[in-house]
Amino acid sequence: METPKAVKARDSFTTGLGVIAATLGSAVGLGNIWKFPALTGLNGGAAFIVVYLLSTLMAGLPVMIAELMLGRRSKSDALTTFRVLHPERESWSLIGAAGVLSAFLILAFYTEVAGWVFAYIFKAASGSILSADPKVTSAAFAKLIADPVQSVFWQCVVIAFVGAIIVMGVSKGIEKTTKRLMPVLFLILVMIGVRSLMLPGAAQGLDFLFRPDFSKVTGAVVLTAMGLAFFKLSVGMGTMITYGSYFRNDQNVPMTALRVMLADLTVSILAGVAIFPAVFTFGFKPEAGPSLLFITIPAVFSQMPFGNVFVVLFFVLGAIASTGAMLSIMEVPVAYLHQRFGVSRFNATAATGILLALIGSTAALSNSVLAEFKLFGMTMFDLYDFLTSNLLMPVGGLFICIFVGWVWGEKQVRAALSNDGQLQNGAVIRIFFFIVRYVAPVTIGVILLRGLKII
Ligand code: PHE
Repeated sequence: METPKAVKARDSFTTGLGVIAATLGSAVGLGNIWKFPALTGLNGGAAFIVVYLLSTLMAGLPVMIAELMLGRRSKSDALTTFRVLHPERESWSLIGAAGVLSAFLILAFYTEVAGWVFAYIFKAASGSILSADPKVTSAAFAKLIADPVQSVFWQCVVIAFVGAIIVMGVSKGIEKTTKRLMPVLFLILVMIGVRSLMLPGAAQGLDFLFRPDFSKVTGAVVLTAMGLAFFKLSVGMGTMITYGSYFRNDQNVPMTALRVMLADLTVSILAGVAIFPAVFTFGFKPEAGPSLLFITIPAVFSQMPFGNVFVVLFFVLGAIASTGAMLSIMEVPVAYLHQRFGVSRFNATAATGILLALIGSTAALSNSVLAEFKLFGMTMFDLYDFLTSNLLMPVGGLFICIFVGWVWGEKQVRAALSNDGQLQNGAVIRIFFFIVRYVAPVTIGVILLRGLKII
């Protein structure tokens, strides 16, 4: 017999493997194949990776553990979590409110880039974007992004696609999809990586990726690296709080976070290994920036045997990666609307999707109709990206650290992270608490102030 709605248990992840697949699915995304290689190429190769790694250890990972822990304790969405855990002071739920806002701003540009990726699968399969000449591939990309109809169309396709999975629910939609897609993603990535390593420019590409040039590292670069650390681990905006609320009570939170962080890093490095050898082999510049993916990749891969197959595979990879990430971002407002106002998942998703399409179109049209419309010297697309990665997510992370380290307190943390005494992980908890109380807030604060040129 079906349980009546009111007493139905909250939908959540069902297996340990499902938890890992969904959480890793959130972390792995365009961040690995679009942002990571582009930012590494622009900011001095391995030197940037070192700064990024340090930011991950000192800020990204601790915030991830903190968020998952809070969500699992409250079994609530990002906003309600703070109300449940600290009812005396409503204002802490502003962290969650900022998270919901960030979710919309990230999705606004993220669904656009994902739209290009989805479009490129078809364009690569039909051969229309393949050419060894970067002038041709760059003209093809310019044509796509300058076309308002195509841009908005592909963005809406992506929103509808992700929305359809969200509607199916946490276990039947998100968990099931990511569990199927994650292995495929690794397989494709390894195949492309191996292919790329067989090219004559492999040594040069690897040298670029692994030999640091610290002369390029400025305050702004460090802020970018920290922003990437937050963006990569999907922290500072409520995603991991929301996903944590679907974790089982016997899940080892610090271990899960560590595993996801390492697997995500592996994907980023593999993406670098897939891209840079090919870039050097065919005489391209590693500093191509965001266009690396859409201009350089088709040109580079077209030049090698079976290149067209690999280009299609590459964009399928991008589509898979971005889907897992978008699911987790969209789940933040959907979970909030669903829990707080009792609306059905379908209605919550529909409302989120429509609002998103409206905000998102300002990003989608940034290269056409709205190209001249700028705030702080940036198009809406760039502004949403900058605001979220370099401001909202680090600030969100900072307040989460303060909440956990100074407000919620050590006793609660100890109970939450040891699964109420079930796990013998005292040393891990001590280290975590020290980092979250002192190291992370100071690191985030200083990097933010310096990166924004306030000190
Ligand atoms: N981590 C995802 C990526 O690298 C992006 C993301 C950001 C996902 C914030 C969820 C929340 O692409």
